[in-house]
Amino acid sequence: MDLKNLNFNSNFKVLVTGGAGFIGTNLTEALLKNGNKVVCLDNYATGKKENITPFLTNPNYTLIEGDIRELATCHSACSGIDYILHQAALGSVPRSINDPITSNDVNVSGFLNMLVAARDAKVKRFVYAASSSTYGDSTSMPKVEDVIGKPLSPYAITKYVNELYADVFAKTYGLETIGLRYFNVFGRRQDPNGAYAAVIPKFVIQLLQHQSPTINGDGSFSRDFTYIDNVIQMNVRALLSDNIKAINTVYNVAYGERTNLKELVGLLKSFLAEFDTKINDVAIIYGPERQGDVPHSLASIDKAKQLLNYQPEFDIKKGLKEAVHWYWNNLKLN
Ligand SMILES: NC(=O)c1ccc[n+]([C@@H]2O[C@H](COP(=O)([O-])OP(=O)(O)OC[C@H]3O[C@@H](n4cnc5c(N)ncnc54)[C@H](O)[C@@H]3O)[C@@H](O)[C@H]2O)c1
Repeated sequence: MDLKNLNFNSNFKVLVTGGAGFIGTNLTEALLKNGNKVVCLDNYATGKKENITPFLTNPNYTLIEGDIRELATCHSACSGIDYILHQAALGSVPRSINDPITSNDVNVSGFLNMLVAARDAKVKRFVYAASSSTYGDSTSMPKVEDVIGKPLSPYAITKYVNELYADVFAKTYGLETIGLRYFNVFGRRQDPNGAYAAVIPKFVIQLLQHQSPTINGDGSFSRDFTYIDNVIQMNVRALLSDNIKAINTVYNVAYGERTNLKELVGLLKSFLAEFDTKINDVAIIYGPERQGDVPHSLASIDKAKQLLNYQPEFDIKKGLKEAVHWYWNNLKLN
């Protein structure tokens, strides 16, 4: 992803929390390529050292191994920073159902620490990862930023609380904030392993090993799958905007189309079969629905288009092709 067309000033120093994770490393890579100085704060809870290894030799890169649950760490990470892209959190709805306390500690208390540290360091803007899970049980479609339902999981509560805190910090302390409600992001470096892996990398690794992927439910559940380069674009546009109406609010970050799980597996199989034709023969298993899952998710991206000039370049097919190519070249299969 090239930020040159967006004209993001390369003199700015950016703190990326969760910078060893999937979205954080992709943001870091784009910013370093643009010539920016980047500070990464991560405790490797789910992030990977191997993700950041290529950055370590870059003189513009600083790594802080630390935890956002410690206020002093947040303060030192924010020192001398122009902008913050706050990604650090414990993702996954099932993880939060299994361990709501840790999810809350990291996603709420850690978030609050980062807001306090950002305020004290007088950063120019605090852009943070919100979530489509905030739409909860709302059945309206497409999802429009102002119409949300009740949260369906502890994770969704934490992400909604982030929005409430950011709003209060904007009003009370004048901190500029923008929340980005990501919709099922996918792409290079998303972790395929572990109990809480996201569906696309999990299915990719299973198909590459000729194992049957299990779809939770009948395959009709749908998502607005969003390629990582669209997400990078939105983060940078959120930093760039000088339109007062565009700040201290939240945006959907998506492509604006939905794909059901059955269609998703079909696309993955056909793209992966270009590398290994046997993947065409792998059967699909259908399992029980998962607790806390919303049936359908589709974003309206009108607000982002109007206020931030967001122009997503990757639809699901274009994004999946790139992602599959990356996994084929980079996955180490046992
Ligand atoms: N990937 C998606 O589809 C998606 C959707 C909605 C929201 N989000 C949000 O986007 C953000 C990034 O998600 P991701 O997909 O890159 O996940 P990820 O798990 O790959 O990245 C999260 C990073 O945060 C770090 N982290 C966790 N706890 C920490 C702590 N206490 N202190 C410091 N670092 C900590 C992890 O080690 C990891 O590197 C998260 O806030 C997540 O909730 C992601």
